[in-house]
Amino acid sequence: MKDKLRKILKSYNGQREGLLPCLHFIQKERGYLSEEDALFLAKELNLPPVEVYSVASFYSMFTLKERGKYIIRVCASLPCYLKGSKEILQALTEELNISVGQTTADKKFTIEAVSCLGACDKAPAMMINEEIYTNLTPAEAKEIIRQLK
Ligand code: FES
Repeated sequence: MKDKLRKILKSYNGQREGLLPCLHFIQKERGYLSEEDALFLAKELNLPPVEVYSVASFYSMFTLKERGKYIIRVCASLPCYLKGSKEILQALTEELNISVGQTTADKKFTIEAVSCLGACDKAPAMMINEEIYTNLTPAEAKEIIRQLK
């Protein structure tokens, strides 16, 4: 990981502009920015670590917390809420025995409540990694999770 990050930074002549590409790489490879990653980047770029954290936390595509292999995003915006997204979340938390925002102990699933997923006409909607599920019922949501277990 460090070799690859050094390579990315080198292509930006060791300048600050290399920070975002490094964060993208870390997010893709590890799934989150660890403290070790942040300290490494800060040292390589000669920046205070707080600046690396500040950039990473500004963009929603980066996460500072380890998450599961499957990120389950349930739309909690109004159209989905009115069509039962609360019940979908309830079914998922029951099935996985975690709360919204948490990750299962085996690091397999994370449940998140998010804003509109762009499928409002087929509410309620849920996304697992890149796949979207629409017109969901709580029973269907549980069944999808059981198949991924
Ligand atoms: Fe849920 Fe748009 S409101 S997908």
